[in-house]
Amino acid sequence: MLFLYFYSMKSSAIGIFDSGIGGLTVANAIKNVLPNESIIYFGDTEHLPYGEKSKQSIQIFSKKIIDFLIKKECKIIVIACNSASSATENYIKNPLKKTSIINVIDPVVAEVIKICKNYKIGVIGTKATISSNAYEKKIKTLCSNAKIYSLPTPLLAPMIEEGFINETISNTIIDNYLSNKRLANIDHLILACTHYPLIHQEIKDYYQGRVNVIDSANIVANHIAKKLKAKDLLNNSKSTKHHFYVSNYTKSFEKSAKFFFKETIKLEEINLFN
Ligand code: DGL
Repeated sequence: MLFLYFYSMKSSAIGIFDSGIGGLTVANAIKNVLPNESIIYFGDTEHLPYGEKSKQSIQIFSKKIIDFLIKKECKIIVIACNSASSATENYIKNPLKKTSIINVIDPVVAEVIKICKNYKIGVIGTKATISSNAYEKKIKTLCSNAKIYSLPTPLLAPMIEEGFINETISNTIIDNYLSNKRLANIDHLILACTHYPLIHQEIKDYYQGRVNVIDSANIVANHIAKKLKAKDLLNNSKSTKHHFYVSNYTKSFEKSAKFFFKETIKLEEINLFN
């Protein structure tokens, strides 16, 4: 019986959610690191951008999505959104404890504290993430000397969601934010929004090698691989199934999901909120 339980958990999907396409950067990294795993992705496109919503609203949306992913029997759930990760800290309780729930902030903090002592670290993210102070608090708890310089960059996620990447308009907005004096003299920059890996190159081009740009997607994917391995929950079978859900169908979501997964995707609109 126990054998059958573990066998079925191994083949269960990894549940991932974000407000929109940002979490696809994490899903894509997970797919590269763990090609045998199935993914169930939920993009809450109806409530995008989360970064502009109140903490209470983000908590309510996240809880409903997590309940949905638990019903789908996901073996692990990734809150692939910094705004939701910071808003749901100490809020989400998983009574069944069968499924681990992972946020995207802790694995990045664990990496950053390896280099925190002697460097100035910038953090950019949505208003919700930056006003929560989640990165600063967590990094300073583990590394009290750390110097953190946070800046909200609220136009970036909607700009990316609208497909403005590598264009004059996106370059102008990025330059405008990164030239803010709060970020002058930083050595490392944490991209504290899962949408930002999509403009990683533009940000790197802005700094011309002067700043180490840290994006969370690979860090989180490797963390999940370790966690599943430790719990003996890696899938052995090669037959993977990915399923995408959105709360509001958008062409841009479908385009991005196809772009990342390079295969026909199953995309369904589903209403979890009424
Ligand atoms: N990708 C999300 C994050 O990491 C949120 C963007 C948004 O919906 O505002 O914060």
